[in-house]
Amino acid sequence: MKSAGVTSLATAVTTATVVEAQTGPRAVGPGDVPVTLIVNGKRLDLKIEPRVTLLDAIRNRADLTGNKRVCDRGTCGACTMIVDGRTVYACSTLAIEVQGKQIRTVDGLASATGTMHPVQQAFCDTDGLMCGFCTPGFVVATVAVLEKYPNATREQISKGLDGNICRCGTFVRIMEAALKAKQVARG
Ligand code: FES
Ligand code: FES
Repeated sequence: MKSAGVTSLATAVTTATVVEAQTGPRAVGPGDVPVTLIVNGKRLDLKIEPRVTLLDAIRNRADLTGNKRVCDRGTCGACTMIVDGRTVYACSTLAIEVQGKQIRTVDGLASATGTMHPVQQAFCDTDGLMCGFCTPGFVVATVAVLEKYPNATREQISKGLDGNICRCGTFVRIMEAALKAKQVARG
């Protein structure tokens, strides 16, 4: 009887595999589905529609509002987050796509005691902002560049920040901030 059970199970699994192969990956949604994110080292269990972006999930459901929604279409960089070491536009990334990855936002850069990250401090010291809407994205992108190239050149910094736009035109002081943060980080 046992072997008969195993045989039926094997047949069922094979049939399911064939059906899946014929029909493609299982669709989820359109209603809420469980999505688990790891944001700034903390696990976040959400129930959201599969169409929800990473930015909306984090801002509206986790109440981490540091990263801004400006263009909401992948052109300005204000929403920049770091996912597994690479910068992404969170407004153009689905939350469901980045489950199991390490997500970092501007909210997680300061130390537990509230001391600003050297890049945040450098932006303050060099007055590298005006209205501030672009600033969280620039700060996160700068952190990503300096983690990749601790002794980054101007060219590497420019390239690392070329997906971010400052409508107030503070680019010169943003570059100053990045160069200053590099010196602090190197000690
Ligand atoms: S808000 Fe995401 S790129 Fe502009
Ligand atoms: S400081 Fe205003 S958009 Fe950059």
